[in-house]
Amino acid sequence: MISRPGRSRLRSPVTIALAVGIAALVPPAWRSLRPRGTFDRESAATGVSAQFDQDAASYDRLVGANPGYHEHLRLSARRLDLPDRGAGATVLDVGCGTGLSTAALVETYPEARIVAVDASAEMLARAREKEWPDTVRFVHARAEDLGTALAGEGPFDGLLAAYLVRNLPDRDAGVAVLVDHLAPGAPIAVHEYSVADSAYARRVWTAVCWAVIIPLGRRVTGDASLYRYLWRSVLAFDGLARLEQRLRDAGLREVHTRPVDGWQRGIVHTVLGRR
Ligand SMILES: C[S@@+](CC[C@H](N)C(=O)[O-])C[C@H]1O[C@@H](n2cnc3c(N)ncnc32)[C@H](O)[C@@H]1O
Repeated sequence: MISRPGRSRLRSPVTIALAVGIAALVPPAWRSLRPRGTFDRESAATGVSAQFDQDAASYDRLVGANPGYHEHLRLSARRLDLPDRGAGATVLDVGCGTGLSTAALVETYPEARIVAVDASAEMLARAREKEWPDTVRFVHARAEDLGTALAGEGPFDGLLAAYLVRNLPDRDAGVAVLVDHLAPGAPIAVHEYSVADSAYARRVWTAVCWAVIIPLGRRVTGDASLYRYLWRSVLAFDGLARLEQRLRDAGLREVHTRPVDGWQRGIVHTVLGRR
């Protein structure tokens, strides 16, 4: 069994959903909330693993308060569409964090071997504290260094990258490494926020961040830096057309995007492709 994050002392998902709904109804008041200055992706991303280290202890509680978070990860895992509950397959989970995306893979493909990789030692330590079947292995490495970290392993039969690609300092180079580790024909699911192509999505995202995510992050961790980074990095991230093209340029075919439901519809997506 995989242990579940507790939700004690946090607002219930219903309260969060209500706040999200109310926030989404008042976009004009939030239009003035623009990221100040130019968003420096490289320096933000360089510090992002350190920031995840710092916030690892509260990560599961915070995302557990986000309605749909776990279900959407399972949805993206299912969309890899591996046969026979993953029997005979080895699947990579890159940017596995505290193991929530890993858990989605285990639930969806209980017969698969799963190699879960993350750059943050603290996030990985939280992941390793949970109970896992012996088909799961965690590796401490940056996505960019998979070639060295997984030397002699692979190619892999599927890859899930949940909330990773936005954080890569050089996205083209990082995506190329992911694609390199896929077997010919193997699927990849990039589970990610993308709002740049939709003014409505950008407004809802900003409203949700400032009404719920940033205040909640500050309340639980005492420091909202990671959650302000989340807001800014999502606004600065690729639109779907750009992200899809990036994946095609890396050599993937059958690239297409599927939505999730809930308040995240139009904001969180599964971008799929096949080597
Ligand atoms: C938002 S968390 C997502 C964790 C998990 N996939 C989930 O869905 O809950 C993003 C994770 O990506 C990791 N990360 C960021 N940049 C990375 C990189 N270059 N290589 C490997 N992991 C990275 C962070 O340490 C963090 O644990």
